[in-house]
Amino acid sequence: MNGESTEKPNPRHIGIIMDGNGRWAKQRGHSRPRGHKEGAKATRAIIDACQELGIRYLTLYAFSAENWNRPDMEVRALMELLELFLSRETKTLVKKRVRLHAIGRIDELPDSAQKALKKAIDATKEFDDWHLTLALNYSSRNEVLDAAKAFAQAVAKGEISPDTTDWDDFSRHLYTSELPDPDLIIRTSGETRISNFLLMQSAYAEFYFTETLWPDFGKEQLRQALACYRNRERRFGKTGEQLASPAPTPA
Ligand code: FPP
Repeated sequence: MNGESTEKPNPRHIGIIMDGNGRWAKQRGHSRPRGHKEGAKATRAIIDACQELGIRYLTLYAFSAENWNRPDMEVRALMELLELFLSRETKTLVKKRVRLHAIGRIDELPDSAQKALKKAIDATKEFDDWHLTLALNYSSRNEVLDAAKAFAQAVAKGEISPDTTDWDDFSRHLYTSELPDPDLIIRTSGETRISNFLLMQSAYAEFYFTETLWPDFGKEQLRQALACYRNRERRFGKTGEQLASPAPTPA
């Protein structure tokens, strides 16, 4: 034994598709908004748990671009919950030095939600150790379209040449340009879909699906997901043998 730890590291960045609020409510005879309210409680607990477990980046799929198709009453409840969450949590985020980001077509959210978001983002903009990102009115396909438009504008201004562009250059135009790619994507509630969430960024992410409904997903369930992640071999296109005995670096 050389005393070095063989324990694989936890992910730096986790993305979560928080699914199952509606079923959680239905199972108990409650309304769907009540399920979302419980979901928001679980969200708060997971933000704390990530910090306790040293996960620096957490991205939560809180409202997809497709969620506008839900009944008006549910959309209104989700927007109200978002504003309530921001007004209650901003103080805690500041205290815990967590920087808030938002990704998605934020300018299409109701004005009051945009104002609440801006206030919270401004209040936490100096922090760099911990990052919480809310995906709101988010769709990976829209993100790619918006990035392509911004990229085309940069080309038209002569700032970049398409001939020499690589992925790093293009990805600077994604909403997530300030964030590392996610290492682990979790989806709760037994669904095994990605539903338009971080499609470009999760090219090499590990995926973890659990039957647990989002309001029941707590620190213990997060620990289980992390243990599963640490058991995976992330090869990034290499062979297992190459990873086991990496080629010596040339002098
Ligand atoms: C999916 O469950 C969940 C959503 C569309 C909303 C996610 C919102 C929260 C977890 C609470 C609020 C969070 C913040 C940050 C304010 P579903 O409604 O599709 O559940 P179902 O599939 O069981 O119907």
